[in-house]
Amino acid sequence: MPRKIAAGNWKMNGLRANLAELDALAKAHPAPAVDVLICPPATLIAACRELPFAIGGQDCHANASGAHTGDLSAAMLADAGATAVLTGHSERRTDHGETDADVAAKSTAAHAAGLQAVICIGETLAEREGGTTLSVIDTQLAGSVPDGATAANTVIAYEPVWAIGTGKVPTTDQIAEVHAHIRARLSERFADGADFSILYGGSVKGSNAAEIFAVDHVNGALVGGASLKAADFSPIVAALETA
Ligand code: 13P
Repeated sequence: MPRKIAAGNWKMNGLRANLAELDALAKAHPAPAVDVLICPPATLIAACRELPFAIGGQDCHANASGAHTGDLSAAMLADAGATAVLTGHSERRTDHGETDADVAAKSTAAHAAGLQAVICIGETLAEREGGTTLSVIDTQLAGSVPDGATAANTVIAYEPVWAIGTGKVPTTDQIAEVHAHIRARLSERFADGADFSILYGGSVKGSNAAEIFAVDHVNGALVGGASLKAADFSPIVAALETA
């Protein structure tokens, strides 16, 4: 069975003062019935170690060490207390030109360091409107998910680029179509493809979480803006717990 995961991606937000939000979240969910994964900026990972949540990085370098000023290796994230790392977020693909091959290499590096890779994929608005969503998903899955992926070391996050931070959410039929497609592709390629967690991401809020979690093959969410405040993220965790 896929694990249910409520994941928060803080992106480039969060100073030490904001850890109070995670303390409040921990008070509300001292022993969550689903996996809760918080991906704060890397500067805060070590400070999150005592929380009752899994902690993740937002990116890692493909190499284990070396002359790569400003980058962090997967082993460094693990050393700071992370058990997971996002790879291939659309903002990394856009801001830093990351290709599917880069994402696969980073995901392999994550696995080598014992981190779970949360591999992000999703179509742009032009691709959706051009009717190529499923072929874009196929290309990204084939190119970004390394052969060493298993349900234990890899999570797939479907994040339509046009839904990220926009307040626009696909219909439940659109989410269902893509998640079923991802599940089919994973099952074709991996012996344990049925067990991978597949998360939906893009403008998830407390008010829409329950209907998204009711969609087949949606095993949780990757949440940006609504993960920054305990008051916003707590209802999403609660919705997944009862889904
Ligand atoms: P929002 O929830 O702010 O739309 O962000 C989604 C996202 O990109 C999570 O990785």
